[in-house]
Amino acid sequence: VCDRAAMDKIFSENRFDAVIHFAGLKAVGESVHKPLEYYRNNLDSTLTLCETMRRHGCKRIVFSSSATVYGVPDEVPLREDMFCKGCTNPYGWTKYMIEKILQGIVTADPEWSVVLLRYFNPIGAHESGRMGENPNGIPNNLMPYITKVAAGQLDHPTVFGNDYNTPDGTGVRDYIHVVDLAKGHVAACDYAAKHNGCEIINLGTGVGYSVLDIVNTFSRVNQVPVPYVIGPRRDGDVDACYADPTKAKKLEGNQDAGRHVPRLVALAESEPERLSGQMSNGARQFPETGDFAPFCANRFCADGLFYFHVELFRCAGESPLRRRPKGMKTNEVCDRPLETFGAHPCFWAFIAA
Ligand code: UFG
Repeated sequence: VCDRAAMDKIFSENRFDAVIHFAGLKAVGESVHKPLEYYRNNLDSTLTLCETMRRHGCKRIVFSSSATVYGVPDEVPLREDMFCKGCTNPYGWTKYMIEKILQGIVTADPEWSVVLLRYFNPIGAHESGRMGENPNGIPNNLMPYITKVAAGQLDHPTVFGNDYNTPDGTGVRDYIHVVDLAKGHVAACDYAAKHNGCEIINLGTGVGYSVLDIVNTFSRVNQVPVPYVIGPRRDGDVDACYADPTKAKKLEGNQDAGRHVPRLVALAESEPERLSGQMSNGARQFPETGDFAPFCANRFCADGLFYFHVELFRCAGESPLRRRPKGMKTNEVCDRPLETFGAHPCFWAFIAA
């Protein structure tokens, strides 16, 4: 995206109604050690992109910002109009500065339409099992770390501090399912097509869960031990960070935002007995919502290793267990239906044939 000539070529050969700008370096810890790389890459790419858009008359952009722009919150839930007293790392500052750049573009040319999406903590996998989070090396983030422990690739997560000002002392975050996050982008593009100006939207659920909530719930629901150790706090972490999602819910087409993950965790915490109720085809259904299999783990084979993602399914009537078609590799795009096989009390399993 920093390559001006390449960007110009793409925009010359295509006509774009809008751009969703996801590109950027994104590791908080790394940014502290490589500030120049972060500022250069994240700002340069955004400036090059916006200049190219302007040259080609494309004036709609949806940007992946982050809850990190709120800095250390005075209070939660976080509302879009709350003032940032300062970010805690260079990565956060790049997101903050890009927000300012895009706001400035709208001020200068009111024909632009900008939607700044402030992500909270995206987790999960696509229900097909084709896409999931499987980072190279040791994950920075909590959920992929847990899935690697569950898969036997790592020993245990370290809980970064248990002396925070939260109910169980561990950090509280707002975990939003990746599919809800994706739907938020579709809604934002729709919104940008109908409105000029700049809008800031939180993409979170409005419900915070602690590190121990996540570790223990994952372990119980997936019936996989996740031993953990308590370690020191991680630099730059805050006690609690969760969204006020009111604005996102108002976005047309985004009514589902914030539903899946909190229900997923909350039901297991409060009503474990209901999770044991299983239907004849192996699926689980909640009578009041019609949702099926609210707790699932995509268990699929990556490089010969199994790993898991907590996942919510709403596919009424289908058998919960399906198999990858023979020969299908992880992350391969597959148009064939997944084969059905057997039953298991807990998993939707995607297993390499
Ligand atoms: N945590 C652990 N052990 C781990 C990893 C994380 O205890 O091995 C804890 C963290 O201390 C925190 C929670 O789990 O309390 C979530 O940590 P993540 O690293 O998964 O996510 P963060 O909230 O730190 O960061 C995420 C994104 C950032 C974004 C930020 C916005 O990764 O890009 O949310 O709030 F800036």
